[in-house]
Amino acid sequence: DQIEKAGYEHFMLKEIYEQPSAIKDTYRGRMLADRGIIRMAGVDDNLEKFLNAKRIIVVACGTSWHAGLVAEYIFEDLARIPVEVEYASEFRYRNPVINKDDVVIAISQSGETADTMAAIKLAKENGAFVFGVCNVVGSSISRETHAGAYTHAGPEIGVASTKAFTTQITILSLIALKLGKAKGSISNTDYHMYLNEMELIPSKIEKALESNKHIIEVAKVYKNAKNCLYLGRGYNFPVALEGALKLKEISYIHAEGYPAAEMKHGPIALIDEQMPVVVIATKKGHYEKVVSNIQEIKSRKGKIIAIVTEGDTSVKNMADHVIEVSETFEALTPLLTTIPLQLFSYHIAVMLGKNVDQPRNLAKSVTVE
Ligand code: G6P
Repeated sequence: DQIEKAGYEHFMLKEIYEQPSAIKDTYRGRMLADRGIIRMAGVDDNLEKFLNAKRIIVVACGTSWHAGLVAEYIFEDLARIPVEVEYASEFRYRNPVINKDDVVIAISQSGETADTMAAIKLAKENGAFVFGVCNVVGSSISRETHAGAYTHAGPEIGVASTKAFTTQITILSLIALKLGKAKGSISNTDYHMYLNEMELIPSKIEKALESNKHIIEVAKVYKNAKNCLYLGRGYNFPVALEGALKLKEISYIHAEGYPAAEMKHGPIALIDEQMPVVVIATKKGHYEKVVSNIQEIKSRKGKIIAIVTEGDTSVKNMADHVIEVSETFEALTPLLTTIPLQLFSYHIAVMLGKNVDQPRNLAKSVTVE
């Protein structure tokens, strides 16, 4: 057990730190940035199906569903294909409209989630092409889907998913870029810039991990909180959901993720000096709007923990704590902003003495319906 943890106190921490190398493993051999090539057999062999798709339906559960939400933004943005993201458990039970020219993407770390499997079977029965994004090689879902791509994140032991999430986003981004290039919905210049930027992501994650000590200090301040709100917009709205899920899963603190602009339609009523609010406020992506949300929280005495772009000064002046991440393209920010949120939950759970790798009532792979 100790050997497998490679000196880390928990698998979750090890897996958080593995993300730079896991992401490299995801794109290794697939993305040749210097030659401007993205190749993935499962997509290349079925390129027409993807290009002719009237829409993409993503089915997944838990953290994988959050990766699907990020994919919605990136596919619509770069490949201009409409995307619907469905909880597999809702999709399968509600007589959904599935057409032959739909492409269904099933995302699952374990490749064993029963509801996701059932959604795949339903999609296949209705004639859709089903593409899997799994981590576990040879898993049931990877065998049931027509084609797919493995994330190659390596074994994920901690029940709270970390590196599976960022590698799922990586693979989905590569697919979106490939389709965007094939469709001409992104320019050649942008395509090349994205590939080059993707190659920098592992080192930018390394940099984000360097905030660990600072995050421990922030975690100390909020470890006894009863509730926590997470806000983000655009690409970082799903990251807010994922940040809240991480905190709930391992520390048992009630947390909610919300699109920042929706705060005024409900969560704002909860804000007082007892309420920590984690706000993702990176420079790209409606920055000014998020800044005004921060002002609203501040005027109600909420405590603000902001995830900002390196060198930011305006949010720094308002927030109680800031955690910096490197600048990157908006579409790739989730790969960086997720990191401090994982560490924040991890440290709070450790400080509270919780079983981080095996939280109560949760399972790594949910094979019941
Ligand atoms: C369980 C796990 C989560 C995971 C979800 C979906 O709830 O605890 O970490 O996100 O299942 O699992 P999958 O293997 O399909 O990604």
